[in-house]
Amino acid sequence: MDGARFRGTAHVRIVNRITFRHPGAEGMDEPLTRLYPGPPAEVALRGVYLAHALHRADAPMVYSNFIASLDGRIALVEPGSARHRVPAATVNPRDWRLFQELAAQAHVLITSARYFRDLAEGRAQDDLPVSAQEPYADLLEWRLAQGLAPQPAVAVVSASLDLPIPDSVDLQRRAFYVVTGEGADPGRVASLERRGLRVLFAGNGRRVEGRRLVAALVERGYCSQYAVAGPKLLHTLVASGVLRRLYLTHAHRLLGGTGYDTVLEGPALDPPADLRLAALHYDAHAPRGAGQLFGVYECCAREGAA
Ligand SMILES: NC(=O)c1ccc[n+]([C@@H]2O[C@H](COP(=O)([O-])OP(=O)(O)OC[C@H]3O[C@@H](n4cnc5c(N)ncnc54)[C@H](OP(=O)(O)O)[C@@H]3O)[C@@H](O)[C@H]2O)c1
Repeated sequence: MDGARFRGTAHVRIVNRITFRHPGAEGMDEPLTRLYPGPPAEVALRGVYLAHALHRADAPMVYSNFIASLDGRIALVEPGSARHRVPAATVNPRDWRLFQELAAQAHVLITSARYFRDLAEGRAQDDLPVSAQEPYADLLEWRLAQGLAPQPAVAVVSASLDLPIPDSVDLQRRAFYVVTGEGADPGRVASLERRGLRVLFAGNGRRVEGRRLVAALVERGYCSQYAVAGPKLLHTLVASGVLRRLYLTHAHRLLGGTGYDTVLEGPALDPPADLRLAALHYDAHAPRGAGQLFGVYECCAREGAA
């Protein structure tokens, strides 16, 4: 992800998907309106996704989260470059709080090579969530109280293994894996292993297969798996029928643009993947002047998924 997806006031940092600025604690106290399930009710923003207890699910819990504009843009081409970035018009600290709450419940974050590429280009902060900054730092304490490791492990999914790992990254600070296919370039595998990365194989060719990815991580004790990469990884997870839940924020803005990403990228799904609405919250407070909907969708079983 092009770093974090929030733009606020202070320093530029990453959280894998969007380059964002740290927001400060303001703007977290206004309530949400729960629209579904049940009769509409005001509820606190903080804790609304923590209540899902994804780390306690009785089967592997694979989930993902995106913020999109109403015209479906999750990223736009950055002016003057070929890079795609989460639009500043959609990112906001209240959505980012919920992104962090999801990260707080993860045993492992599944990300893409973009994490290392952004770091190498100085476009990313030196860490993935869970953030140690206010107004998210309470989530670190929450993890410890839940008996979780201080930070989730990180699994970087890559077919190319073109991972420019900057020297500044401390690979010992949390468990780091690279997941690739058995057809991956052996020279690149050896070079990553020399750097101290654990390489897992989860596919016949160079690409990673959804079911094998999930199984390889579960085998290492990582049952709650938060996919924070982008639309290609999401396609792998949906097509193989392993995604269990999609958290999708719609910022009430239309962005247009001709170069953009949407939630899913890959071959058409036939049959389509069906999702059932599990929860819907309306946030009148961000993005300012527009508002947003926080949707939670349960994925229905996909017959015959590989
Ligand atoms: N708005 C939002 O909430 C949001 C959230 C996430 C991402 N985004 C945006 O989406 C755009 C794309 O994100 P992204 O590039 O991180 O993610 P991505 O589209 O999921 O995939 C990027 C890379 O991940 C690897 N990959 C994905 N699936 C794989 C598989 N099945 N097997 C092997 N490797 C696989 C490949 O790496 P290699 O090239 O190394 O082989 C691929 O090039 C970015 O602009 C990002 O900002 C937006």
